[in-house]
Amino acid sequence: MVGSYPIKLGWISKQLKDVNQALATGSLLPKPFKNRLILYGPPGNGKTTIAHKIALDSRSAFFELAGPSIVQRYVGQGAKNITDLFEEARDSVDKNIKTAVIFIDEIDALAHTKGEDRDEHHAALQSLWLELDKIKEDPRILFVCATNNYGKLDNAFLDRFGSNKIEIPLPNEKIRQEVLKHYEKVKTGKSWNAQLLESTVKKTNGCSIRNLEDLVEEAHMCADLTNNGMVNEKIVDDALKTIALKEKQEKNSFAENLYKGAIIVNASTQTAYAGLALFQVARHILGI
Ligand SMILES: Nc1ncnc2c1ncn2[C@@H]1O[C@H](COP(=O)(O)OP(=O)(O)OP(=O)(O)O)[C@@H](O)[C@H]1O
Ligand SMILES: [Mg+2]
Repeated sequence: MVGSYPIKLGWISKQLKDVNQALATGSLLPKPFKNRLILYGPPGNGKTTIAHKIALDSRSAFFELAGPSIVQRYVGQGAKNITDLFEEARDSVDKNIKTAVIFIDEIDALAHTKGEDRDEHHAALQSLWLELDKIKEDPRILFVCATNNYGKLDNAFLDRFGSNKIEIPLPNEKIRQEVLKHYEKVKTGKSWNAQLLESTVKKTNGCSIRNLEDLVEEAHMCADLTNNGMVNEKIVDDALKTIALKEKQEKNSFAENLYKGAIIVNASTQTAYAGLALFQVARHILGI
């Protein structure tokens, strides 16, 4: 459910507060924000949620488009889509005396260097720069874009954002614990017992917030069918394998979700698995 933001993500929350304050008071966005921002990181950890949250907290109107839907077959259409989006936001700000957040998801569809339709990409990007120039001095409008493919972005594109880039990484242990607790509470009104929570946190290294949300759901489905609704370690293990398989089917790339400093698994020795999170092992077994 995009838009639910119960877990406060530490330093990100602090930065969001600054952005929101600036939007709400109409003052210029504080350094390093100006009024453009890139959110990047592996899938499912809150980029879209954060963009929504910025708009929600600052009571801004929200205008959004996904990169792939902007860039079309015909040269010029993408550029027009961008102009229309910004025009709509400017109109709304003028009419409603309200601030606005313009969000473009999957910006890499537009801002990568390689691939076909280069003219079309180029035209769309030119249009984006033109529009960003127009709102440069306008503190009422914030432009946010997001990507899972930071490495594919054109350097010239990145330079235009200066230091206005925030990485939204995979959750660490502490956040995984909060996320599991939260979604279990949403589901049942209670928390798992401390031991189950602790072991699940350890096994879920490499999971995104979305994976964890799915895990709680999957574990309950399985528990309802097989164990009178009681989730236990075995059920969590099975659920982890199921969500790893689901990821495979959805063709999410393994590399994208690899946690930092991951150990290379030696498939021939069980002991190599010992220090690894179960989620990683499941993926390895599944070949993803
Ligand atoms: N702070 C948070 N607290 C609780 N749940 C969260 C939080 N941030 C994100 N989520 C949940 O995690 C899921 C994924 O979030 P979101 O769609 O924003 O990620 P994303 O980074 O935009 O993913 P993608 O790259 O696939 O577009 C959503 O269901 C969202 O509700
Ligand atoms: Mg998203």
